[in-house]
Amino acid sequence: MEKYMIHGGHRLVGEVEISGAKNAAVAILPATILCDEPCVIENIPNISDVSSIVDILNEMGAKITVINKHTLQIDPTGIKTPEVPYQMARRMRASSYFMGALLGKFHESKVPLPGGCDFGVRPIDQHLKCFTALGATHEVESGVVVLSAEKLEGAHVYFDVVTVGATINAMLCSVLAEGQTIIENAAKEPHIVDLANFLNAMGAEVRGAGTDVIKVRGVTKLHGTVHNIIPDQIEAGTYMVAAAATRGDVLIRGVIPKHLESITSKLQSIGVTVTEFDDAIRVTGDKPYVKTNVKTMPHPGFPTDMQPQIAVLLCLAEGTSLLTEGVWDNRFRYVNELRRLGAEISVDGRVAIIEGPKKFSGAPVKATDLRAGAAMVIAGLVADGVTEIEDIRHIERGYEDIEEKLQMLGADIKKIVVPDSEIAKAL
Ligand code: EPU
Repeated sequence: MEKYMIHGGHRLVGEVEISGAKNAAVAILPATILCDEPCVIENIPNISDVSSIVDILNEMGAKITVINKHTLQIDPTGIKTPEVPYQMARRMRASSYFMGALLGKFHESKVPLPGGCDFGVRPIDQHLKCFTALGATHEVESGVVVLSAEKLEGAHVYFDVVTVGATINAMLCSVLAEGQTIIENAAKEPHIVDLANFLNAMGAEVRGAGTDVIKVRGVTKLHGTVHNIIPDQIEAGTYMVAAAATRGDVLIRGVIPKHLESITSKLQSIGVTVTEFDDAIRVTGDKPYVKTNVKTMPHPGFPTDMQPQIAVLLCLAEGTSLLTEGVWDNRFRYVNELRRLGAEISVDGRVAIIEGPKKFSGAPVKATDLRAGAAMVIAGLVADGVTEIEDIRHIERGYEDIEEKLQMLGADIKKIVVPDSEIAKAL
């Protein structure tokens, strides 16, 4: 088993370069299936969720050529069977994007029900609502969602909740459908816009991405293109909070500051100094921190994927802060872990009440999911003494080279391998 060991108490100082966006990459890579020619995708983050998507494409018959660490050429023309292998898809949520892409291309798909971080129930009813509206039937057989359609025809789809995944699947299954699809109450996240830009670069006609109405006029075929993935908003936000929490001074490079506005604004309310440049953001922790209330919401609201990280910072601020989760039913499972380090947080349903300021001291903790794991890393950087974080596979699903990037900023973090025999002895 691998763990991170962090000796806390060092200010983060220096510059860090942000990788391509995970949640854009995991949509854009399956979207290449829709194309009749190879596509080159640049700025792909080197993380395990992306490797899982690439493995699935490869297993289905796509030809993957590695151009460099962050660039792949994907030739989907070898995919003949629209079926995703069971064990590969169960690992992650984004495997659901194979439903929209395969259905759009082949008019049928067999994709296992998706996995991903555990935030309570993660339904796919809105995805199915959209596939059905376009003319597909669906059934679940032994854990596999089987979709099929004689033909796909454009339709008017109104989502009951704002959902990133179903908005992406709606775009994927409608770009090659006959006629126009109107997607209402669509999600507006930056990766939705990035996917639309990629589809349009292949010859699709997607208009309105980034607003709550997306119109897709179906085309008959898509051609190859080169696409550069946008920077990861959540990775950038995580380094912003880490810099603030350690009272550091960090220039976060290769970002789109507009995508970070809701995070910037909350950090400023807490007392963090944030300076925006064209494609960089500087975060300096040089003033006292005060309480603030945060509610997570779909974009352009404060992102749910930054909720555990901001909780750590609120623990360090003077006063009582309320942190409300507005997207997921159960995203506070990490709170018990944070308490081990000294946090005083009580949770009532979707609201966490955070008392500060608290001083953290190192302890063994677990990464209960991806962003919770990032929060443990930030807390460990601040804590006195040693923090050991288990289950770091969750963190590696979404953060490229996190130890190296933090080490470059002056953090004392390293990955250690604990032999299985020692784990057995401890049980
Ligand atoms: N929902 C439904 N029915 C559906 C789909 C969603 O009721 O058919 C509900 C969900 O239960 C949830 C809300 O709608 O309450 C939003 O879910 P959404 O579909 O937007 O989430 P997702 O597509 O499964 C993506 C990200 C998550 C991120 C959410 C919200 C990917 C691969 N995952 O998930 O990212 O939390 O959007 O922004 O893009 C992460 O990166 O750590 C992560 C978990």
